[in-house]
Amino acid sequence: MSSALPSSVLVVGSGGREHTLVRQLQASPARPRVLCAPGNAGIAQDATCFPVAADDVSGLVALARREQVGFVVVGPEVPLSLGLADQLLAAGIPVYGPTADGARLEASKIFTKQLLLKHRIPTGGAQFFQEVGPALAYLRQRPVPIVVKADGLAAGKGVVVAGTHAEAEAAVREMLTGAKFGNAGRQLLIEDCLVGEETSILVVVSGRDYVILPTSQDHKRIGDGDTGPNTGGMGTYSPAEVVTPALLDRIEREIVRPSVEAIAAEGIRFCGTLFIGIMLTTDGPKVIEYNTRFGDPETQVVLPRLNTDLLGLLWAAARGQLAGVKLAVKPEHSLCVVVAARGYPDAFPKGDVITFPTPLPAGVTIFHAGTARNAAGQIVTNGGRVLGVTATAPSLAAAARAAYAACDAIQCASKYYRRDIGARQLNRR
Ligand code: AMP
Ligand code: GLY
Repeated sequence: MSSALPSSVLVVGSGGREHTLVRQLQASPARPRVLCAPGNAGIAQDATCFPVAADDVSGLVALARREQVGFVVVGPEVPLSLGLADQLLAAGIPVYGPTADGARLEASKIFTKQLLLKHRIPTGGAQFFQEVGPALAYLRQRPVPIVVKADGLAAGKGVVVAGTHAEAEAAVREMLTGAKFGNAGRQLLIEDCLVGEETSILVVVSGRDYVILPTSQDHKRIGDGDTGPNTGGMGTYSPAEVVTPALLDRIEREIVRPSVEAIAAEGIRFCGTLFIGIMLTTDGPKVIEYNTRFGDPETQVVLPRLNTDLLGLLWAAARGQLAGVKLAVKPEHSLCVVVAARGYPDAFPKGDVITFPTPLPAGVTIFHAGTARNAAGQIVTNGGRVLGVTATAPSLAAAARAAYAACDAIQCASKYYRRDIGARQLNRR
């Protein structure tokens, strides 16, 4: 990896993913100065935070210039799709995170599906629509369940896995005619439903070079037993043992390498995380979607397992020096339980005081997501997903015990968390 590491790094974002990035970058032997915009109450304990919103592209470029930042690591997808990386590069500031053309792989599901189909990368079949009539005519001849997806960014809410034709039709009407999705819903896809277990493969990409990060699985639904509405993610664990070494080889051969090649062949110079959502079907692994950033809360379990310096890894990607880089991964298991505000993903209260147990159980780290300080200086809830309680231990069961002991000991009037993070893998044994 490149020897001259940057002496300062700015992390953009304010969630649990960004808190994890801040911690791991700070742990670098290079001892960089770590800044964050806008951050949260937990990040502010570890890095200097600046009140610039994550979607304020010109404000972030100005901040990076003013603070003479040597490197920027972008957490969320919105600034990437708004061209933050393009603007930083134009200002001569190295960045980890794709330019807007690469961010389209997340920002447009139609663009991505066309790329997947064109390059014969395994994925579900789909058709694209802009008008209600043809979409409904197509729907009526397809079997259910079937998936309706708004084309654009919809904060994880633009996908309906419809069990009935009526549900699918309602989704089509709502997306194409309703105000709820704005521009994101002006076009949609109707996609064959893939059945199987889901896994997240995070890949650090630099042009045609890539490094696959440790495997993980997310729990997307709000309720125990994978019930209720989809969320941004309620908990994760790594490794995902369902992805055996042989299966990972197959995923690399059939999906990861062809994806990286296809993106480069389309003329995109992709530098950043390619997060590949994969369904393990009886017919083999298939791509559900790409994201063009680290996952949240996948990051909270994947990065703590690295024995490789994160700053060196991301810097190598940004400088085009990723070829030949090998990761050192800890054998331990990590598990993250998301503590949310009761009511999420719908309306939830803010401003509830949080009290943390001291000391934390061994092996536990609490990454902050939606937290802030009130006028009295107390840490309070300030978002739907509030904390990522992460434990690393020799076994998944021990990691789950430690994480839940910490969750139970956290005091907060509105705390809610799933009780069964990791259960699928634990029960498989
Ligand atoms: P996305 O916003 O694309 O991540 O989709 C959200 C969730 O919807 C995914 O994590 C899957 O659980 C589900 N999903 C998306 N596409 C499909 C599909 N073709 N078949 C089955 N489930 C899907
Ligand atoms: N945890 C899923 C995501 O980051 O999109």
